[in-house]
Amino acid sequence: MSTLVVVGSQWGDEGKGKITDYMAQEADVVVRSQGGNNAGHTITFGGNKFALRSIPSGIFNPKIKNVMANGMVIDPKQMLEELHGLEARGIKDYQLFISNRAHVVLPYHQQLDGAMEKFKGDKKIGTTKRGIGPCYADKANRIGIRIADLIDPIAFKQALKDALTIKNMELQMLGEKTFEFEQIYDEYSKYALEINPFVCDTSLLLEEEIEKGSKILFEGAQGVMLCLDHGTYPYVTSSSPTGASVPLNAGIAPKYIQNVLGICKAYTTRVGEGPFPTEIDGDIATYIRERGHEYGTVTKRPRRVGYLDCVSLNYARRVSGINYLAIMLLDVLSGLDTLKICYAYEMDGKIINTVPASLLEYEKCKPLYIELPGWQEDISKVTSFEELPINAQNYIKKIEELTKTEVAIFSVGPDRLQTIKLKELF
Ligand code: IMP
Repeated sequence: MSTLVVVGSQWGDEGKGKITDYMAQEADVVVRSQGGNNAGHTITFGGNKFALRSIPSGIFNPKIKNVMANGMVIDPKQMLEELHGLEARGIKDYQLFISNRAHVVLPYHQQLDGAMEKFKGDKKIGTTKRGIGPCYADKANRIGIRIADLIDPIAFKQALKDALTIKNMELQMLGEKTFEFEQIYDEYSKYALEINPFVCDTSLLLEEEIEKGSKILFEGAQGVMLCLDHGTYPYVTSSSPTGASVPLNAGIAPKYIQNVLGICKAYTTRVGEGPFPTEIDGDIATYIRERGHEYGTVTKRPRRVGYLDCVSLNYARRVSGINYLAIMLLDVLSGLDTLKICYAYEMDGKIINTVPASLLEYEKCKPLYIELPGWQEDISKVTSFEELPINAQNYIKKIEELTKTEVAIFSVGPDRLQTIKLKELF
């Protein structure tokens, strides 16, 4: 067997979908192990663009087993819409397996997500309002509903009654509309019937695949800086998008994790609130945003843009066990005279090389940059490292030097063919 974990090494939206899709060509199994439809993975091939939210990126290949594992939170309504949307576009021959231990996102989770954001006012997190945080909170509070409960009418009835009693109280306190039991029960029982054929113990399935010697790709969602434990808390998501979380969230032994590929833009972006030391405004930010189409896949919000931050990248490497990097959207930087890379922060007159836990301290961090000459050439058609302009080669080499991590892939456009692999990873 051979395993590869693909993780976002920044604040999400690094292009994990594209790399997962690319690496999936070699995989037997593709696993999503955390998050839910807060993720938005864009995949382009053969002139077609697909935006996946909760379904694993191997879905386009009939030979690949796609697993939605126990660490995910699944909104059955949205997931079925996503599946029907794919079917309507001709993706009918697929293999999908949904963990019976994954948690179910219900309408009150979305309502509470929006209500909490409203309640927090200017301290809001900037969530995707998909109910992800409230669903994980219920899981930790032991009032969550799992897929195994959803597909069992008696278990679902009881679990929903119990949860709704508490959730309606919370909603009332926040001045929000409450939910009728029958309405949710009837609607979600229909979804349950539809997803039932896909449900199984995915941990068992993965063990079988490991024993068979399969190639398994774990597709991370979000990014390490949004990790509940290691990210810029509280401006984070509610799960852990690190390589370290994969064994727990997929139900496999840690010893089976081999390579961890950190996906990283050639610059940095962030959606939602929270500190972002290398953030820039003005013409260069607009240039990068427009060329990189830096608008949220799920929410369409314009993304905040900044220079590449190798301090947070090194931090992500350490807490997530990243041993290779994929540099995405390198083509977006063509046309800039000078490029900056942050190699350290300065805080209160001290030089620091890691991400502080305190947000107040992180907000005080000023990026220290090295400047490199840019390149003017269109690089969207290059097919090898050697074809890149020398300044683009040097940019990649500088990232390797600052992160002490080999670049295994770089990407110069959205299509599968615009992906240049420098190293075998499976
Ligand atoms: P939530 O995951 O919807 O609770 O949102 C929490 C934070 O994570 C917000 O700042 C979101 O913008 C961010 N976030 C969640 N999912 C993604 C993603 O897939 N890409 C980028 N940011 C995300």
